[in-house]
Formats: sequence, C-alpha cells, structure tokens
Amino acid sequence: MKTKTADASGRGSDTSFKVSAPGRLHPYSEEAIEAAVHVMRNVEGQTQGPYLKAFEDAFKEYTGANHVFAVDNATNALRLSAILCNLTPDDEVIISSYTFCATAIPFGKTGAKIIWSDIDKDSWVASPEDIERKITAKTKALVVVHLLGMPVDMPAIMKLAEKHNLRVVEDCAQAPGSMIDGRKVGTFGDFGCFSWHGAKNMTTLGEGGCLSVRSDEDAKLVPGIRHNGCRGFKGERERYWVPAMSDVDIDIDGVWPNNFCIGEAQCAVGIEELKHLDDINDTLITQANKIISAMEDTPEITFAKVPEGYKHLYHQFILHFEGTENGKNRNDLLDIMVNKYKIKCIVQYYPLYRYPLFQKLGAGEQDCPVLENWWDNSFSLPWWCGMDDETIDYLVSSLKSAVKELKSS
Ligand SMILES: Cc1ncc(COP(=O)(O)O)c(C=O)c1O
Repeated sequence: MKTKTADASGRGSDTSFKVSAPGRLHPYSEEAIEAAVHVMRNVEGQTQGPYLKAFEDAFKEYTGANHVFAVDNATNALRLSAILCNLTPDDEVIISSYTFCATAIPFGKTGAKIIWSDIDKDSWVASPEDIERKITAKTKALVVVHLLGMPVDMPAIMKLAEKHNLRVVEDCAQAPGSMIDGRKVGTFGDFGCFSWHGAKNMTTLGEGGCLSVRSDEDAKLVPGIRHNGCRGFKGERERYWVPAMSDVDIDIDGVWPNNFCIGEAQCAVGIEELKHLDDINDTLITQANKIISAMEDTPEITFAKVPEGYKHLYHQFILHFEGTENGKNRNDLLDIMVNKYKIKCIVQYYPLYRYPLFQKLGAGEQDCPVLENWWDNSFSLPWWCGMDDETIDYLVSSLKSAVKELKSS
C-alpha cells in the first residue's frame, strides 16, 4: 500500500488509513495562540527579552532544576552539554543506542569515541549494568535517554558517575514531567536536554528546547556559548556607546560560541503550553494503561515495565511482539494491522549503530545483545493525546484479532 506522510519521519495524518497519527500530539490552547499573536503585535525585540526569562523561570520551577536556559532545539541543548563536558578525541562517551539520532550527533562532533549502551530488558531504556560493563579509563561522560518518557534508573547512573568521576547528560527530549519518586528527570545529571519540537508532548511553534544545568560553574558558561559570545562590557560606563554596544568574548579557552537562541513568541507559547503539560502527560498515561490492561490476555504482545515510583509519560506507544510458535513475527503482524485493519503502525528508532551516518563516521560497532534481540519485533501504534474510547477499542480488538490470525495460520 502506498502511504502519504507529512514529514521525513513518517508522521502525519494519512487518509488512506482508518487510524493514523496526526503530526502533533495535541492542539494548542487558545491562550498559547493568543500569546504568540500578542508578541507578534506588541513586542519590539522579538528575541532575548522578558518572555525568555519568564519561560526559563517557569520551567525551572516546574522541574526543580538549579538553572534553566531556553534554546532553539534540544539538539543544541545536547550540543551545549557536549561542549561543557569538554570532550576530546582521546575520550570515550557512552551513549544510549536506542534513541533518535540527535542524542548522539552533538557528541560525535567533539571527536570523542562513541560507545553504545544496551537497553534494559524490562524498561527498554539504558541499562546501568551494561553501562558499567563498558566504562574504561577513557570514559568521560554518560549520555542516557528517557526515551518515550520512561525514566532511566538515574540513582544507579549517578552512583556510577560518582564512582568513576563522569559527567552525565540526560536526554529528556521526550520526557518533560517524567519522574522518579517525585523528582523530575533532567535534575539528576549535570545537564538535562528538553525538546519543544512540533511532535513532542509540548511545542513552541515547531522548534524549541531547554537545557537544565546542575552546577553554578557550568551555568555561568552557557549564555555566551548560546549567543555568539555576546555580553555586556564590565563595570559602569560613562557613555553607553563607548567602546561599543556589547562585548564579545570566549567562555571556554579555544571554544567558538554559537547562536542557539529561541524567539520571544516561542517563549510566550511555551509559558502557556507548560500550564497544560501535566494534563497532557496524564491523558497519555491513562490511554496507555487502558490498552495495556485490555491486552493482558494476549501475552504475545508486551509493554515496557514501569518500575515502582517511576512516572513514564508515553510520548509514543511502543510495543513488542514476542512472535508465535509457528514462527510469525512483527512484520507478519504489521501486514495484518496495516493492510486488513488499516491501522498505520510504524517502526521507530533504528538502533543508531545500524544507520549509515554512524557507520560512516566510525560509530558502527556495537555490543548490545538485548537491543539486537528485541528491536526487530518492536513497533508503535498510532498515538496522540485524547484518543476516544472507540479508537482505543478498535486498536485493541484489531491487535488481538491479528495475533489470533497469526497463531492459527
Ligand atoms: C530522544 C530525542 N533526542 C533529541 C531530540 C532532538 O530534539 P530537537 O528536534 O528539539 O532538536 C529528539 C527530538 O526529536 C528526540 O526525540
């Protein structure tokens, strides 16, 4: 069947299916739309003004992070983290292999050697045991991803970091609001990187991000690296124009700065969207739990196990098909789901070491047996916030029927 998709990732409503996911998880609130228009009509400087500060303050309060910097996207929040980790080509950085490519690219750019970490067999996110196995004298940083909103076991990761003196970056692009025992992700490690991309649980006009920073020393370095090294001149100035409008300097020896700034209208939208984030997350959790409990009688389909005290946000809904005794696999299942029931299932996040980009750049080696064994039978159901019961029932009944058909074929 030919499919029409809205973007290169395969997202977007598709009328040739009975159920397909829209490109966005939920619509904007009216307040968010009004906030954007208000900035467009009334705010002179469209960047780095009061809305930036207010958005950063609001997200700092929401997460409980020590410092928050809003940026143009999570890729650049990760890039800032990679710069601040001060990685060199002599270092190794251990990165989750099961994630979106943007987790790893900023670290690859430092020249450090990427070592891929495996997933935990139950939670399907980074395994601290596997990471520990891969730490060497050259390891300088760990990059873990709370993929789909499932928190990685951060207490275990932080123990490793302390023991081996490592920097820790949390990729929270899909996990704003995920928690472990009431503590938000992005506040455990040195850095937390959040995304406000259009497909995320909350968006700031299609692009946007935030970086949370734990230490005051790191936080001091961010503004200059984020904004082309610009800063005010030191001290009182008799004439504000002497010697010039603003100074330009470097914050880390030998490191060129960047422009990773986000606009005021985006920040104004972010302030409003943040007010609804918990409702959106809770709706996604309720939907997921409905499907999981309705599928209890079909052990061939499994779901990530959420550890006690963890809040998993179900940014996307990924399942695993264990297969049938007569040798039917995920692709056989999706043939039925797609062609017979017209449900646009997709397969997301190829293990990064399998992509040509990483292979061609010298990061094609892997030692991730759990992911290798699991990934080829994983898939996603179409997913958005506010699915009605009729749609959920149709997804569940189709999935059950498809499994039954395969077992008896
Ligand atoms: C896990 C993960 N990391 C990083 C990113 C990069 O986010 P952004 O698109 O905001 O650069 C994404 C988003 O698509 C993501 O899903």
